Amino acid sequence: MLTGKVAVVTGGSRGIGAAIARKLASQGADVAVIYAGNEELAEQVCSQCTGRAVKARAYRCDVADFNQVKETMAQIREDFGTIDILVNNAGITRDGLVLRMGEEAFDRVLDVNLKGAFHCIRHCAGIMLRKKAGAIVNITSVSGLVGNPGQANYAASKAGLVGLTKTVAKELAPKGITCNAVAPGFIETDMTDGLLEKTDLLGSIPMGRAGQPEEVADAVAFLAQASYITGQVLSVDGGM
Ligand code: NAI
Repeated sequence: MLTGKVAVVTGGSRGIGAAIARKLASQGADVAVIYAGNEELAEQVCSQCTGRAVKARAYRCDVADFNQVKETMAQIREDFGTIDILVNNAGITRDGLVLRMGEEAFDRVLDVNLKGAFHCIRHCAGIMLRKKAGAIVNITSVSGLVGNPGQANYAASKAGLVGLTKTVAKELAPKGITCNAVAPGFIETDMTDGLLEKTDLLGSIPMGRAGQPEEVADAVAFLAQASYITGQVLSVDGGM
């Protein structure tokens, strides 16, 4: 159980992030939901969390912005008292073949997916360090592990997250802080909306179906509570 713990979930306004926020709340954690743009959705997720008798609050913040993340984490600490769990879930895609990919598409995906996670870790680790406890879970992707045509930027950002995870795990292990990653395969969310019809993805999933956001959230909740697992990447991909 996570009673008394404070969790920060980036990109928590919808999809996998929303499922993670609800899952952690269902286990008793107070939740700070960081979202990029849709306040109404973020507030909805907060009310779904507080329905379970915990505190939840939404914060608008672009994780790609170092100073915005710094201010937001300081605000969360003021509002909740501390931060015990950080889930770096915010992510975007700007797909295209590498030969045609523009610099802006490459940079923005790296800025949100990889630098965003660095910013959040950078501004949370100090808080966790003082308590000599904490859990960080980064959401990477099967694309980052094996590559995927059309996703050079996205796969690079997600592979980068694996290196970030393993390094942060080693740096912070002596301080009682764990850092792991979850690598989802194909999960039904807005990000993948319409993809299933367009491609033969199901054929590449041994379980023969897409995953649900809740199935990723289960893995995140497990890693958020694991005391002797760190630096690992847990795939949630139906056997891909
Ligand atoms: P989604 O597009 O439904 O949700 C993404 C969330 O990130 C939204 O809440 C959005 O507001 C937030 N976000 C985007 N840019 C942001 C920024 N600059 N600052 C703060 N928040 C920002 O995506 P989905 O499917 O729920 O994905 C969540 C994570 O899981 C992403 O990191 C994605 O790469 C990863 N993932 C998803 C898979 C899938 O099949 N859906 C497969 C593998 C990984």
